[in-house]
Amino acid sequence: MANPSAVQDIQVLLPEQEATIEERLTEILYPYQCKEDELIPILQQVQRVFGYLPELAMKRIAKFLKLPESTVFGTGTFYAQFKLVPSGRNIVRVCRGTACHVRGGARVLREVEKRLGVKPGESTPDMEYCLETVACIGACALAPTMVINNKTYGQMTTKKAAEVFNQIRREE
Ligand code: FES
Repeated sequence: MANPSAVQDIQVLLPEQEATIEERLTEILYPYQCKEDELIPILQQVQRVFGYLPELAMKRIAKFLKLPESTVFGTGTFYAQFKLVPSGRNIVRVCRGTACHVRGGARVLREVEKRLGVKPGESTPDMEYCLETVACIGACALAPTMVINNKTYGQMTTKKAAEVFNQIRREE
């Protein structure tokens, strides 16, 4: 069962958070010309700044580009690169591909879930980590694999996964 305290897809913004989003959006939109083909670059920029696409931002972008909100929301949900809910600062990806699976990838995933206290698709309550699974990271020779941000960890075991997170915690 998923950790109930993990961040899932219910997002309630405080008034000050809304004001911050509004303020940052004004800066983000400033260089754009209100052209329809600017939608994706704007969404990419918003995601870079906030780490996800806040609903409020998508409504404002729709107004700015004079597009129906459904077009903006549709684009935001269509592309896997966009996230609609806030996610942790550090992305942990555990490979679920065949090569990793046959070499114990599921056990590694369970250990990572235990260490972080979240299931795939969730973020830790402190927003430090989000956990994802991937079909293959393209390093099958190192299976089972895990990636934290841009760093790949190969030949993972449950012990090694525990050590990686212990080491990260020590460095924090
Ligand atoms: S299957 Fe895991 S890296 Fe390819």
